[in-house]
Amino acid sequence: MTSSGFLKGLVCFAVLVCSSTVFGQGQKTEGKKVSGASANATAAEDARHDNSSKEQAQITDLITSWAPEVRLGVRLFYDNRLSNPGANLASSCRTCHVPPEASRGRRNFSDSVPFSVIPSSGKNTTMRNAPSLMDVSLQTSFNADGRFTDLKDALRAELVSKHLGWEAGQELQVKNEVFALLLNDQGEDLLAEGTYLEQFQAVKGLDLLEADADKAFELVVESLIDYLSTLTTKNTSAYDAMAFLNRFNESLSGPNDTPQELSGRVFGRVANQEGRVLIRFPNIYTEEAYLGYKTFMRVEPTYNSTVFEEETNIGNCVACHVPPKFTDMRFHNTGVVQEEYDSAHGDGAFGKLSGLAPSADTGFRIYAGQPEKMDLGRWNVEPIDNNLAAFKTPMLRNIQKTGPYLHNGMYDNLEDVILQKIRLSELAKAGKLINPDPEYMKMNISEADVPHLVAFLKTLEEVQGKEFRDYRIENVRIRQDPKGEQSYEN
Ligand code: HEC
Ligand code: HEC
Repeated sequence: MTSSGFLKGLVCFAVLVCSSTVFGQGQKTEGKKVSGASANATAAEDARHDNSSKEQAQITDLITSWAPEVRLGVRLFYDNRLSNPGANLASSCRTCHVPPEASRGRRNFSDSVPFSVIPSSGKNTTMRNAPSLMDVSLQTSFNADGRFTDLKDALRAELVSKHLGWEAGQELQVKNEVFALLLNDQGEDLLAEGTYLEQFQAVKGLDLLEADADKAFELVVESLIDYLSTLTTKNTSAYDAMAFLNRFNESLSGPNDTPQELSGRVFGRVANQEGRVLIRFPNIYTEEAYLGYKTFMRVEPTYNSTVFEEETNIGNCVACHVPPKFTDMRFHNTGVVQEEYDSAHGDGAFGKLSGLAPSADTGFRIYAGQPEKMDLGRWNVEPIDNNLAAFKTPMLRNIQKTGPYLHNGMYDNLEDVILQKIRLSELAKAGKLINPDPEYMKMNISEADVPHLVAFLKTLEEVQGKEFRDYRIENVRIRQDPKGEQSYEN
């Protein structure tokens, strides 16, 4: 780890004269036009990232313990020379997928705007909200419409996409640019440990001088995956501690159980433990979060359910957001597009659309004044009715650090997301939602549930080992029975 390139990075950072490659996420100024749009973009960038020297030092400190192939991957992830050198703004993966260490822990591999500014000649933005990349290697499909089923394909596409300032049809040029970058690199950016030639030789045992542009491009994809595979959640949240203490975790269920069966088992335990006043909380766990957890896990009572509670507070969230990662990796129409479309084009406008076929317009952002543009999500990939306006169920861990929410970044806070779910599930039950997901109609919650569900979602924040130990072992209490009954004394 004391290779000269890496040290040079540190030295150059210390005297604040290093090249802007890694942390100067604004635009490249040399030999480039700086348009008004890019100036705005820079302001937005500055607002999004705090590149104080303290943080830069933290990043370099952090990565010293990582394996060499991961360090090469993270270097590429932060390298804004992978974007179109002719564009007005230099972007790296990190520009939109902002790591915690680049944001004082505030972000978790997504940015904080509904749509991210892209390198281009105008003031263009991405079509969808940038998703978090946590647990991306566990995903079975990529992008909100699941367009790719192989992470490699998703990255190949991302590297030649508008996100990095390229236009369709420029694949060959991108590969040549990437190849030239790797061959000519002088290893001067902050995360460099020698030149790319040296690093690929050391890590992949391959001489880039003997490779071609295709091979080099594939190596970049592989290296990015070496890094992305390390971005996994560890199931170390207050929720995990609470589930562990009460044996509510998904280990209750068998591998082939449905979410409904899991729910049934959880409520079996709940009844048992509550009856004996034996629910245990990590000390920081609140009654609100616990109520939210139950609403989240509660499904419509079925004939084989052990639950005979009143039929309210049924979140049915677990039907789609299945623990431990809180996704089923499938696609559902939860009405988000219809609501956005109708608010742009008038009530009922979405329902009047007919004769649609997948095209560039059906995979677009919704704009007032442009009724032909809409985002029909999964249906663009697989145009069957069930997929109309359906999107991949997002994971919910560390949710506080990945807003704004939904594929269109529609809401900044969780309250609004849940209020929308209440509104749209009511609409679905009233038969007014086009093509609603059947599970959506089984929700039965009201505004009173919102603070509970939000409190629960906030307990999905992962913490470090020591704190998690505290939650599970050191700092535990018995839940006060809200009715004040000491049932075991009866
Ligand atoms: C300008 C912003 C931007 C940049 C730069 C960018 N991305 Fe993305 N990324 C996005 C957006 C927006 C999506 C969602 C696309 C969709 O759903 O159609 C996305 C999707 C992805 C996905 C799919 C995730 C999932 O869960 O489905 C991966 C993986 C990814 N990006 C990795 C990268 C990597 C690696 C880089 C650098 C080579 C990069 N991105 C650069 C904005 C960006
Ligand atoms: C029918 C399946 C389904 C049910 C039931 C469901 N969700 Fe979702 N949820 C989704 C899908 C799909 C999205 C993404 C929609 C989009 O991007 O347009 C989503 C998005 C979210 C988001 C935003 C996540 C992000 O990163 O953008 C939150 C929070 C959320 N759901 C919580 C809940 C809660 C709480 C419940 C129960 C009250 C619930 N969901 C019930 C499928 C479901």
